[in-house]
Amino acid sequence: MTSIDDLAAIRYARMRWNAPLSEDHADLLLDRLGVPAGARVLDLGCGWGELLLRAVATGGTAGALRTTGVGVDTNDADLARGRALAVERSLDAQVTFVEQEAAAWREPADRVLCIGASHAFGGTVAALDALTELVPSGGRLLFGDGYWERPPTAEAVEIFGEGILPLADLVEQARASGWRVLHLSTADQREWDDFEARWRAGRQEWLLENAADPRASEVRAELDAQLRQYVGVYRGVLGFAYLVLGR
Ligand SMILES: C[S@@+](CC[C@H](N)C(=O)[O-])C[C@H]1O[C@@H](n2cnc3c(N)ncnc32)[C@H](O)[C@@H]1O
Repeated sequence: MTSIDDLAAIRYARMRWNAPLSEDHADLLLDRLGVPAGARVLDLGCGWGELLLRAVATGGTAGALRTTGVGVDTNDADLARGRALAVERSLDAQVTFVEQEAAAWREPADRVLCIGASHAFGGTVAALDALTELVPSGGRLLFGDGYWERPPTAEAVEIFGEGILPLADLVEQARASGWRVLHLSTADQREWDDFEARWRAGRQEWLLENAADPRASEVRAELDAQLRQYVGVYRGVLGFAYLVLGR
């Protein structure tokens, strides 16, 4: 029988990363982030650090210059997954994962990633301001954040909070916080649908295989409510933008 811990791990098992992002789109963002050999890369709210590991790998090694990375998150299970991935890819000597509050991190880096984690700083505006302290002149930030694609209903605001901006305001805010917008792209509907389906996929598969488990009815109700909420409340309403910002 699957334990509660296994059910928690299953929740994210089918996800490549915890954001609406296709492989092609990730390649584009890493290209625009332009990680130079020998750079220090920092990922705040890294989860299991899939994009961090890829960013460090793209920087590579040139002579004595070895690209390094640090992932910071408060979720120990995600960090353990990240460390295992780093070992699998022979990047464990270059990439470390630290359990810490993102907002308490003080060491600057040449390339900083902050994707889906602006809430760790108190929201979009606070994150865009705070991150200027961590990116020196000539550095870049890959900032992934939610925005309202359409005016939200009260129900959508209740789920995602008051701090979400429309896209035009998000871009203006990035400028007001002192960044130059080098690149902007948004998750398309297929990326969103894939993200949402992958989030549920581990539990859907578990449910199909464990219909008689005493927890099955609870898991089924949770999955049904989440799908209903996605389709009924925020599909096409909540967007997700990727900005590569320079200073
Ligand atoms: C939506 S996930 C995004 C993860 C990752 N950036 C990615 O794209 O796959 C948000 C992450 O922020 C982390 N997080 C939430 N609050 C945090 C905090 N105060 N400090 C550090 N990380 C935090 C969560 O544990 C989670 O891994």
